[in-house]
Amino acid sequence: MENKFTAIILAAGMGTRMKSNLPKPAHKACGKALINWVSDAAKKAGAEKIIAVVGHGKEEIEKIAREGTVFAEQKNMLGTGDAVSSALPFVEPGYTVILCGDTPIITAETIKGALNETVEKGLDALVLTADAEDPTGYGRIIKENGLVKKIVEEKNCSPEEKKITEINSGMFVFKSDALLSSVPKIEKNEVSGEYYFTDTVEILVSKGKKVGSYKIADFDEIMGVNDRVALSKADAVLRKRINYDLMYSGVTIIDPERTYIEDGVKIGRDSVVLPGTVLEGDTVIGAGCVIGPDTKLKNTIIGDGTEVVKSVGLDCVVGENTTVGPFAYLRPDTKVGNHCRIGDFVELKNSTIGDGTKVSHLTYVGDSDVGERVNFGCGTVTVNYDGAKKYRTTIGNDVFVGCNSNLVAPVTLSDGAYTAAGSTITDDVPESTLAIARARQVNKDKWNDRRKNKK
Ligand code: UD1
Ligand code: MG
Repeated sequence: MENKFTAIILAAGMGTRMKSNLPKPAHKACGKALINWVSDAAKKAGAEKIIAVVGHGKEEIEKIAREGTVFAEQKNMLGTGDAVSSALPFVEPGYTVILCGDTPIITAETIKGALNETVEKGLDALVLTADAEDPTGYGRIIKENGLVKKIVEEKNCSPEEKKITEINSGMFVFKSDALLSSVPKIEKNEVSGEYYFTDTVEILVSKGKKVGSYKIADFDEIMGVNDRVALSKADAVLRKRINYDLMYSGVTIIDPERTYIEDGVKIGRDSVVLPGTVLEGDTVIGAGCVIGPDTKLKNTIIGDGTEVVKSVGLDCVVGENTTVGPFAYLRPDTKVGNHCRIGDFVELKNSTIGDGTKVSHLTYVGDSDVGERVNFGCGTVTVNYDGAKKYRTTIGNDVFVGCNSNLVAPVTLSDGAYTAAGSTITDDVPESTLAIARARQVNKDKWNDRRKNKK
């Protein structure tokens, strides 16, 4: 059964314990803002509309939130009841799910399960609950005849109530009309001056409405991120989820606890990801690749059968059956072809490298267009910058660049050109031509004997 609903995500709180300039729901776990984890779970569960209640750091959250999110502004932080109240004008008929912007581990399955339960049992509202080993800090669920009678906030608990281990997760499903009728009736708490959303339960029950509960088996799912330690724990749970999904889809991850893959990264079948690897952004890895160990790729596309060892790639593309590293640095706007070798201590920037080309060791290629089957000798430098402007180097097919060559751009080496080792090439080299650009060697006979005899 597919139930459509509106989701309200509470994200106006300050998040003081994060000690941050950034509002809490904008902090990231596995590369995705906390609020967007919640948003994505709601969307996946069938939410037709997502309302984010914003206050602290409003602009920041509006910037990062998913497209289509409706923002309700909470002017003063007067509690969860006040927060939901500011979203009421945007609520649609049917059902409304209340979620928190700092509980990123909640799953679409749980939201769906809770919604189905509400619909099937004809409930007016439902509280998502959990059994807590240590219920400290949570509202306690008071039940009667299998239904929820009220939620008591910890500070208002009697000693008996304090012992209850079934707690309020802070997440709810409401029939929209039950939400619209109960929230305006919440009264200000005399002690704290806040409006407690949890009071809606008693309000509904007093009108003869039915409030149920839905127990979440995995306590992690309700784990709120309040400080950076909790953020790291949430990151670990989500990381495991991402890595397991990849493994079940046919990717080998040798050590999932030491492999950091952001949500949204794609990896083909039979690829192997080795420890210490960080894959970020819109990275796409083909099938049958070996990535790592100790490799970071961001917004990088890697073709099938390619190996990347101990290297960094940023905003770049690497073709099929190519090897990269160890210790290569592929900087933005680099495109490496198929069957290439990019070896140790090689830096490529804003360059195209044709199929079958080898840049094996200690080389910088920047702002260059390189053809196919080119061989770069060890220690080649494209001299692309004169301190003011950058210039391009153009290299044709089947060129051989001798070791320790400087190619002073703008310069062109045409197809089949060959440069002698140690050359500083400042002029274009025509097709199939050898360029030697270095002083001739002079041998001085017995020079060292004469030097020694001077003493
Ligand atoms: C709330 C519940 C408690 C539950 C707990 C679960 C109430 C009164 N209590 O307590 O029963 O066990 O969550 O974590 O609801 N927020 C706003 N505007 C506000 C206040 C809060 O947007 O004015 C947002 C916060 O950013 C947060 C969420 O609402 O995302 C929960 O608020 P919080 O202050 O953490 O409530 P708790 O005291 O933890
Ligand atoms: Mg809280």
